[in-house]
Amino acid sequence: MLTYAVTGAQWGDEGKGKIVDVLAEKMEAVVRFQGGNNAGHTIIIGGKKHVLHTVPSGIFHQGVLNYIGNGVVLDPEEFLTEVEGLRAGGILIDPRFLKISRRASLIMDYHRVIDKARESSKSAETKIGTTGRGIGPAYEDKASRFGVRAADLLSPERLKERIAHAVAEKNALLKHLYGSTALIDIDATVEKYSRIGEKLAPFIVAEEQAFLASFAGKKILFEGAQGSMLDIDFGTFPFVTSSNTVSSYAFVGSGINPGGLTENIAVMKAYTTRVGGGPFPTQDPGEEGRIMVKKGMEFGATTGRERRCGWLDLVALRSTFLVNRFTAIALTKIDVLSGFDTLKVATAYRVNGKETPHFPTDIAQFAAAVPVYRELPGWHADLSAVRKFSDLPSEARSYIAFIEQELSTPVPIVSVGPGREQILFTRPIG
Ligand code: GDP
Ligand code: IMO
Ligand code: MG
Repeated sequence: MLTYAVTGAQWGDEGKGKIVDVLAEKMEAVVRFQGGNNAGHTIIIGGKKHVLHTVPSGIFHQGVLNYIGNGVVLDPEEFLTEVEGLRAGGILIDPRFLKISRRASLIMDYHRVIDKARESSKSAETKIGTTGRGIGPAYEDKASRFGVRAADLLSPERLKERIAHAVAEKNALLKHLYGSTALIDIDATVEKYSRIGEKLAPFIVAEEQAFLASFAGKKILFEGAQGSMLDIDFGTFPFVTSSNTVSSYAFVGSGINPGGLTENIAVMKAYTTRVGGGPFPTQDPGEEGRIMVKKGMEFGATTGRERRCGWLDLVALRSTFLVNRFTAIALTKIDVLSGFDTLKVATAYRVNGKETPHFPTDIAQFAAAVPVYRELPGWHADLSAVRKFSDLPSEARSYIAFIEQELSTPVPIVSVGPGREQILFTRPIG
């Protein structure tokens, strides 16, 4: 088995979808292993834009198996809408090549309601700024064992039992804590999800053990969602998502036997963005940050929110590289940095007057961190048509070399634009 992980090294939106799509050409399977439709993975093929939320980014390559693993929280209604949208756009969706684990936890209507009610009840400082997709509440139900799983949709009695079990508590929460008058009706919910189950059935794996066994000897790419800084354990807790986004979770979230990763690829933007709440030391609230928003078209692929922008943060990256032990970096959006005379890169933080190269694991310390910048020369040439590393301006090559050296990891992939073809490799991958 050859296994490749492609995960985000920052706060998400690094360009994972594009990298997965390009590498998927050489793969037999692309596997999502965590997160849900909070993800928005953009792929531009021949000028046409596609945004995937739950469907893996191998879907544009015929004959590649796309698997939604047990670690994903799946919104069945949204999944079907996404499939319809792809079909309407002329993309062939064959349920034999798009499979959902029987053990995937479902995002139900009431998870979205609770996600939004909870966020509304918070102050501006404590709001996480979730995507409102019900991700946290769905993972809570998995952990508390109230959850409904994909296979439950296939059995009406079991579905009713699971929903009734969950809803009693949800209604008490909605009524007494959030003061909601619109409570969940068990029968209507069962009825709605039974209908959805009929449509989802062809996508659900029939026999999971045999299915997982069939991965033996295959070339598999694990597609991460979000990024390591949003990981529930290793990210900037509590301003994180509710899953483990790090590459080691690929095995837990898919049931594919850990034999070690052949290649563990970090997708990394050449600068930093964050969408939603939480501290962001290298955010540039000034003119240069505005330029990044505009040139990088930094608006969320899921919620449309403007992304906060700033400089590359090597302190945060050192922390994510420690947890993931990446073997390669796919550096994206370097074209966006053209035009700056000088580029800033944070190499350390000053926390309460003391300089440190280490990422503070305590959120109060992280919030107090002031970046210590190293300045590197910028470049002005347009990079969007560059296809060979040696054709990059020397300042861009030096910027990449600096990253390689600081993170002790090579950069064999450089992306110079959103299009599928706007990429260069210094060695083949896959
Ligand atoms: P993901 O969530 O990691 O898949 O990333 P998103 O799709 O949310 O956000 C990345 C955005 O940057 C999308 O709009 C992509 O089309 C775009 N993009 C990806 N790579 C590049 C690149 O190298 N240069 C530029 N300018 N845009 C890119
Ligand atoms: P992709 O896969 C960027 C952020 C939200 C919020 C926090 C928690 O496209 O990189 P959640 O809805 O997960 O409970 O929100 O995480 N977030 C993302 N930010 N890219 C994503 O996914 C994200 N998924 C969640 O903005 O701050
Ligand atoms: Mg995204």
